[in-house]
Amino acid sequence: MKKIINYAITLLFMTHFSSAQFEPNYDETKVPVFPIPDLMTTFSGETVSNGEEWNTKRRPELFNFFEENVYGKVPGTLDNVSFKTVEQNEDALNGKAYRKQIEVTLQKGSRSLNYNILLYLPKNKDKAPLFLGYNFFGNHTITRDPKVLVSQAWTKNNEELGITGNQATETSRGVRTNRWAIDKILDKGFGLAVIYYGEVDPDKNDFSDGLHALFYKEGQKQPKADEWGSIAAWAFGLSRALDFLEKDNQVDASKVIAFGHSRLGKAALWAGVMDQRFAGVISNNSGCGGAALSKRKFGETVGRINASFPHWFCDNFEKYNENEEALPIDQHQLLALIAPRPLYVASAEEDQWADPRGEFLSAHYTFPVYGLFGKEGITSKRMPKVNQPIQNTVAYHIRTGVHDVTDYDWEQYLIWAQKFIEN
Ligand code: GCU
Repeated sequence: MKKIINYAITLLFMTHFSSAQFEPNYDETKVPVFPIPDLMTTFSGETVSNGEEWNTKRRPELFNFFEENVYGKVPGTLDNVSFKTVEQNEDALNGKAYRKQIEVTLQKGSRSLNYNILLYLPKNKDKAPLFLGYNFFGNHTITRDPKVLVSQAWTKNNEELGITGNQATETSRGVRTNRWAIDKILDKGFGLAVIYYGEVDPDKNDFSDGLHALFYKEGQKQPKADEWGSIAAWAFGLSRALDFLEKDNQVDASKVIAFGHSRLGKAALWAGVMDQRFAGVISNNSGCGGAALSKRKFGETVGRINASFPHWFCDNFEKYNENEEALPIDQHQLLALIAPRPLYVASAEEDQWADPRGEFLSAHYTFPVYGLFGKEGITSKRMPKVNQPIQNTVAYHIRTGVHDVTDYDWEQYLIWAQKFIEN
């Protein structure tokens, strides 16, 4: 209820009082000057000087802050997680791949939730490293493969993609093949596992369904102020998929990379932070509340994202609406929680809403933490030119074009993953 009231107030505020305040800033000269919250000094002022101190002192307190004030805590544990292979084929994609479709069932008390993993594995590997990520409109949209099941879950309408009545159908099969370079991924010896995010938690400001509802106490209608929003729920869904991948003997579960674009990039980052079994993380154009520094207030801001998507973060995050100065952390500290594991942050030149410079700087500022573990981050503060990736354990590129996932992005991810994850 509080969320709905806040949302209404914000809308009223936006429409009647101060449209100027919500005008996005795209002018670099208007970016505020602010101190970058220090990674290596604890909240009580102690300096961190080695990997062990990072792991035992600084990482936990930063993690707690993000958990309680940004993404929200998982409110309990499940009673059971089970997996059922509902379909499989040894000769998928013109004989190139193994295909499996797995139904995951999460159980809590008398309630349960199902979602499906679509898994392609290359035939030339006994145990494949792989990319695990969500898609926006259903597993059947990422390939023209006619055997991929069409999700029955609530789906956002999209006229262009042929989705109406909040229900995906055959019409949308293969409409998002452009975002998933499946052939390239398989040719390089990687597998790909995808999940439709709406099966884990429908992307609407309504907490009555999806993963949240599974954990409610009697009479509860929405998460508490420090409990999870949708991003944390999606992240949790990725971890349970990893539970399955650990049991699949054709997968090298020690080499699973969490991948995501945009809001799903935010979810991939949080999954990689919450669950250190993920071998690495790729954030594609994740922007505000993802890789981008919040205090720059460039493009999308904290107030703006909480107004447009009140269900993504926990209620506590609203304290920082139009008040980024008060944040004792910033998103480079989220990225640093992935250290020492490989991390790739990617931007697109025309995606100013996601603040490419803020995404780059955030990746850059993690370098001292990677250094504690003898890993190479991005030490230069100078942003690379478009289409000139920097690939260390921490990698970054900005490509030409708009907010999207392209073949160019995948080509870079594959080169980097072969170097830093596979070997
Ligand atoms: C909106 C939102 C972004 C988000 C993006 C997406 O633009 O403001 O924060 O990343 O949607 O998920 O495509």
